[in-house]
Amino acid sequence: MSKLRIAVQKSGRLNEDSMRILKDIGISIDNGKDQLKASAKNFPVEVFYLRNGDIPQYLKDGVVDAAIIGENVLIEKGRDINIVEKLGFSTCKVCIAVPKADNYSNIKDLEGKRIATSYPNTVQGFLDENGVKANLHIINGSVEIAPNIGLADAIVDIVSSGSTLFKNNLKEVETILKSEAVLAVSPVLNEEKQAILDKIQFRIQSVLKGRQ
Ligand code: PRP
Ligand code: MG
Repeated sequence: MSKLRIAVQKSGRLNEDSMRILKDIGISIDNGKDQLKASAKNFPVEVFYLRNGDIPQYLKDGVVDAAIIGENVLIEKGRDINIVEKLGFSTCKVCIAVPKADNYSNIKDLEGKRIATSYPNTVQGFLDENGVKANLHIINGSVEIAPNIGLADAIVDIVSSGSTLFKNNLKEVETILKSEAVLAVSPVLNEEKQAILDKIQFRIQSVLKGRQ
C-alpha cells in the first residue's frame, strides 16, 4: 500500500504547530527530527522534514504529495499549487519596512531605491502593480540587517510579532499580503493517495472546528 508523503518545515516557526496538528489528527510520528523522514505508526503517512523554500518545487515534481507550509511561500514560489485547507496558525504578514527615521509617505518613495528581500517575486509583483521601479537585492536570511549595513534603503520580509523590525530600528510602512499555514497538495496525486489525503483533510477540518 502506498503512503502519503507530507512535507513539513524542518525547523523554524511552522515546525512545532505542524507537528501539533498531525498529532491532533491522530498521526503519531516517531520522534525523528534529526532524520529527514519519519513514518507514522498508525497511518499510511510519511513525514519529510524540508526547507521551506524547497517545498513548492517538491510538490510540483510530485516528490512529496502534500505539505504544511506558509501561504506566503506558495505565493512566492508556487502559485500553481493547490491549497486545500487554510490551517489558521502561523499567521504573519509580508511587509515593506524602512528605517524608523525615514519620512516615508507612500510607495512612490521607493522609486529607484534598493530593497532587500527573500521574496523577490512577491515584491516585484507589488511594485509593478504600483508602477514603481526599484532595485531588488535577494538575501536569504537576516534581511532586516540590510539597511543598517548600507545594503538597502528598505526591506521586505515576514512580520509576525514585529520584534525583529523593532530591534533593527525599522518601521512597517506597507503590508503586501497576509499569510497563514495551509495544507497544499501536489498537482500529480494518484487516486490511492488522494483517498488518504481526503481522510487527513476530514480529520483536520474536525480538529480546526474544535479549536474555534
Ligand atoms: C523571520 C522573518 C523575520 C522574523 C519575523 O526570521 O524572516 O525576520 O522572523 O518575526 P517577528 O516579527 O516575530 O520578529 P527568522 O527569525 O526565521 O530568521 P531568518 O530570517 O534569518 O531566517
Ligand atoms: Mg528573518
